Amino acid sequence: MPEIAVDALSMSFGTNQVLDNVSFTVHEREFLTLLGPSGCGKTTTLMSVAGFLRPDSGRISCGTQAFYDHAAKIYLAAEDRNLGIVFQSYAIWPHMTVFENVAFPLKVRKVKGEPRRRRVMETLGLVEMADYAARYPHELSGGQQQRVALARALVYSPSVLLLDEPFSNLDAKLRERARTWLMGLQRDLGLTTLFVTHDQDEALSLSDRIVVMNKGSILQVGPPEEIYRRPDHRFVAEFLGHCNIFTGHVTHVQDQLATVQLDTTQQRLTLPVGAGAPGDQIDVVVRPEAIILSEDLSQLSQGVNTYRAKVRSRAFLGDHYVYELELAGLPLTVTHPTAFSAAELTVHIPVEACRAMTNHTETTLI
Ligand SMILES: Nc1ncnc2c1ncn2[C@@H]1O[C@H](COP(=O)(O)OP(=O)(O)OP(=O)(O)O)[C@@H](O)[C@H]1O
Ligand SMILES: [Mg+2]
Repeated sequence: MPEIAVDALSMSFGTNQVLDNVSFTVHEREFLTLLGPSGCGKTTTLMSVAGFLRPDSGRISCGTQAFYDHAAKIYLAAEDRNLGIVFQSYAIWPHMTVFENVAFPLKVRKVKGEPRRRRVMETLGLVEMADYAARYPHELSGGQQQRVALARALVYSPSVLLLDEPFSNLDAKLRERARTWLMGLQRDLGLTTLFVTHDQDEALSLSDRIVVMNKGSILQVGPPEEIYRRPDHRFVAEFLGHCNIFTGHVTHVQDQLATVQLDTTQQRLTLPVGAGAPGDQIDVVVRPEAIILSEDLSQLSQGVNTYRAKVRSRAFLGDHYVYELELAGLPLTVTHPTAFSAAELTVHIPVEACRAMTNHTETTLI
């Protein structure tokens, strides 16, 4: 399976620039996800790779084959790219049976007779839908229709799979099952896969690496854990789950640790050296599950980043509680497995749970 390389892709619709210098690589057999809010340019990127949209500039290649090269005036038609595609609205043709739906791409490619029948049945077997070959789409559940759409994308043994929000029409439970199933299939077939979603859980659970996009630009690329735990941008931190963001300025830096004076409070926070030199205004991101709570006052003497906080509310969410706290006037969300009933709690924010990043608001104000 080849790798897909997207290099410096830019595209505008009229005066609206929707892709701005987008570059990334989907390695061989890798599951790479484009993640970002609605309208950020995910489908435009995918459609450019698929050959249904022609960008204004840049380059797209698959292994050694150039799909698109603006400078060299190369543009390969979609049907010559040999990619398996599941579109955002994955609708399978309602007037065709499951078999006919899956056979269609082979028909277009002039595969006939017994070889076609065999290939369709093999692919339906792969998605566990062989028993449903004679049914029409309206006789299938959403998840089953989804699998037919995937079979249709896989039937001609594409070298690369492109999937645009393929689970958007499934309910939460079915979606989880479909994810596990797709992950197994992708690994078994060793498909190079470019996946698009705006759902962070989907991106975190499925991907080898995630490309976070916003407003037509790439903000960060990395494995799920890295993107989640070490976001480079406030947007990335906020888009990937809940987080607490403190603002403050760096007072001093020593031994790989920075001390930050939090805005509007007398409190200080110690964190690993990251963005910011002494005097700089920075944002500090802390995930709610990384914070340690205790009813024990004696823990207050336990070194840095330990505070008392008022409990504003507590919500039970099955396997954990969500606490809304007030720390020196600042709101703080903490998830914790223990039910505390005290009105005040001891809060410890581990140094390594803090992630410093440049305060972009401040930069633009200057
Ligand atoms: N044919 C078009 N003509 C004009 N503008 C378009 C066209 N297609 C897309 N756009 C605009 O380009 C931007 C990016 O669209 P795109 O479909 O790539 O977003 P997306 O990230 O896939 O969003 P979603 O999560 O909602 O599917 C949007 O602002 C959209 O309105
Ligand atoms: Mg889209």
